[in-house]
Amino acid sequence: MILPLAVLVIIGTVSGLDNGLARTPPMGWMSWQRFRCIIDCENQPKDCISERLFMDMADRLVDDGYAAVGYKYVNIDDCWSSKERDGEGRLQADPKRFPNGMKTLADYVHNKSLKLGIYGDFGTYTCGGYPGSKFYMQSDAQTFASWGIDSLKLDGCYTGTGDIPIGYPIMEEFLNSTGRPILYSCSWPAYLQKPNYQNIAASCNIWRNYGDIQDSWDSVVSIINFYGKDSGNFSSVAGPGNFNDPDMLIIGNFGLSYEQQRVQMAMWSILAAPLLMSNDLRLIRKESRELLQNKGAISINQDPLGIQGKLIATMGKIQIWNKPITPVGNFAFAILNLGDGGPGSLISVKGATLGLMASQGYNITDAFTGEFVTVIKPSSYFNLTVVPSGVFLGKAYLNTMS
Ligand code: GLA
Repeated sequence: MILPLAVLVIIGTVSGLDNGLARTPPMGWMSWQRFRCIIDCENQPKDCISERLFMDMADRLVDDGYAAVGYKYVNIDDCWSSKERDGEGRLQADPKRFPNGMKTLADYVHNKSLKLGIYGDFGTYTCGGYPGSKFYMQSDAQTFASWGIDSLKLDGCYTGTGDIPIGYPIMEEFLNSTGRPILYSCSWPAYLQKPNYQNIAASCNIWRNYGDIQDSWDSVVSIINFYGKDSGNFSSVAGPGNFNDPDMLIIGNFGLSYEQQRVQMAMWSILAAPLLMSNDLRLIRKESRELLQNKGAISINQDPLGIQGKLIATMGKIQIWNKPITPVGNFAFAILNLGDGGPGSLISVKGATLGLMASQGYNITDAFTGEFVTVIKPSSYFNLTVVPSGVFLGKAYLNTMS
């Protein structure tokens, strides 16, 4: 665990991890929120953390159109391993639930042109009580690479917080030295009061910085508000190769109304967030599937500038968010209604308040439908109705006609 000072100094001076991965926010599916730590395959054969679950989801990603719009990662979260390491100290998949082993699962996923992600923990145990990587980081990195793993979420339970800023970069070195490109997702800032985001971005592709999402609107709103506060200006370190992670998409589960699901899709797009669905793709409703596959929202999320949108104005329960997109000079924006009054709120907002400052004005389209809405100039007003716990997601393209 103790590295020579020289190594730490070298790690400390690198600015922005550049392993060629996550040039735009990663998209895929992750087991945790929906399937947690279900390990009783006898009673819950379709829902337990097993190779069957991940093969089912890989099938759905491809057959139901998700992969075609960008969802490529199949991410295994906690509770996949045996409670014991093998005789040589290596992590091993639970033999009952992954009878063919991780390599076979990786092959299955790769044959569908998808990628396989896995979960580990920097401490002595994972948050769910499975073996952690402390004292085994090099071995675990090699094990993951030998299985053909493409992404690692490294959690931070069961360790002193003082070790976290030192240990996460070490795992990145070990991942790099395997020679296999492995997207590195760090829970590093989620465990610290005042994380150093520059250092985090130097070692990690994506990172969780807030509590776990739950299947509720309250949870989604608390995350949006945390990102609105943007303490320490963490939005500024986001860019190609590095993204803040507000946690999984819960669209298609039980806790959100249709309008609230639109809000999560819109806001995760504005935030340049990883789009990692945690739902049951075998049971999902058509309306949720269409939202998750909405090309207008995804194009905002995947914009090559990789800029994280910011909260730029608040009017009571209405929030205005703005995200620069390509071609440079254009914007996506969200007008979010966090109110709960019965009818929709009539909103009249100046172009300048939306962050639209160019005098020639902008053509506004509804990003979800692609429909043209109006032309706005900095001093003209955009009038619309936004329903309670609803959103207008717009694209503003510079008007080159006048
Ligand atoms: C932590 C993480 C979650 C999930 C669980 C697994 O709570 O934040 O996303 O990985 O651990 O135990």
